[in-house]
Amino acid sequence: MYVCLCNAITDKTIRQAVAEGVCSLPELSRRTGCARVCGSCAELAEQVLHEELGRQRFRLPLVAAA
Ligand code: FES
Repeated sequence: MYVCLCNAITDKTIRQAVAEGVCSLPELSRRTGCARVCGSCAELAEQVLHEELGRQRFRLPLVAAA
């Protein structure tokens, strides 16, 4: 789904940015351009960002079976 129409940023782009270490809206904005034009997407972008951060927090590393 498109989150930022001004810059064609999708939720998938935001989730990928979080996977690459982004953890705040200003950082996301610098990296992707999200929320840098009209700003109307900021609230939804932040919601997706925090949802993904929560998901990543509970993602356990894979451990090879011995
Ligand atoms: S919709 Fe994201 S800056 Fe306008």
